[in-house]
Amino acid sequence: MSTLLELLKDGRFHSGQALGESLGVSRSAIWKQLQLLEAELGLVIHKVRGRGYQLASPITLLSEAEIGQHSSSVKAWDVRIFDSIDSTNAEALRSIEQGGGSPILVLAERQTAGRGRRGRKWVSPFAENIYYSLVLRIDGGMRQLEGLSLVVGLAVMHTLREHGIPGAGLKWPNDVLVGRKKVAGILLELVGDPADVCHVVLGVGINVNMQSAEEVDQEWTSVRLESGKTVDRNQLVARLSEVLVSYLERHKRNGFSAIQEEWEQGHLWQGRAVSLIAGVNKVDGVVLGIDRQGALRLSVEGEERVYSGGELSLRLRDGS
Ligand code: BTN
Repeated sequence: MSTLLELLKDGRFHSGQALGESLGVSRSAIWKQLQLLEAELGLVIHKVRGRGYQLASPITLLSEAEIGQHSSSVKAWDVRIFDSIDSTNAEALRSIEQGGGSPILVLAERQTAGRGRRGRKWVSPFAENIYYSLVLRIDGGMRQLEGLSLVVGLAVMHTLREHGIPGAGLKWPNDVLVGRKKVAGILLELVGDPADVCHVVLGVGINVNMQSAEEVDQEWTSVRLESGKTVDRNQLVARLSEVLVSYLERHKRNGFSAIQEEWEQGHLWQGRAVSLIAGVNKVDGVVLGIDRQGALRLSVEGEERVYSGGELSLRLRDGS
């Protein structure tokens, strides 16, 4: 992390002279670094003659030590925190290629090419949200992959409910919504042979303190907008990790069928009239629930049909 940002993160005024003295550089060098912080990280810095420089709002940066204080699971993992990266999922995949032992947790303050499902972009501004990718090794068990992305969604929903969003719920397969607005998304990526040894990246994006983002192309909200409070991202990462580990253990021990009912209880669109979209194809039906593998059960023209696959998406039908 830039030392200049470390000095400014308290959100107070700092004179150019004091900053220059702390970093052992000239005032004009400070000025240049400030321009870079604004241009590269999208930060807003107030510059007031006679008072100095101030971040528009104070920021708390991600810290492995802080997270580890609240999560014994994270303490045991290989944690990698980046100021800026293309995508934490992409970095997690690179770490698998390089043969890093799992679990590896990749976190970033911002992503320049955050990936969403179905080729969408995940808007990822600096120091506002959580961009989280956990690498796990899966040994010979298709069963361990069944419903896995839904289990991650459940863990995120549970964590957000604990953090002042009682209305957080799920939308198949793994969006976390408040009402119609998306607060978190999940993207799983797999490398290797699912029937033998493979690695899975559990990618989680949570809108935490973000209050505006014109580029997001769907209805969205954030923990802060819903709860009215600024949230400590380190504590949220820690809690998410603990809840996730506990769900993953249950899933590994008993399979997805043991979690299916709990997932359906959190599903906001149970019984709703929906359209299921797969590319240019569309099927209208009513949501019955999910099966023991996490596939969607729809009633279509009075008959039950089952759908699964990463490229599918659900829409509510008008008036439902
Ligand atoms: C979705 O479209 O709902 C899935 C969004 C997943 C975003 C997260 S942010 C952390 C991780 N890194 C990425 O590039 N994507 C996932």
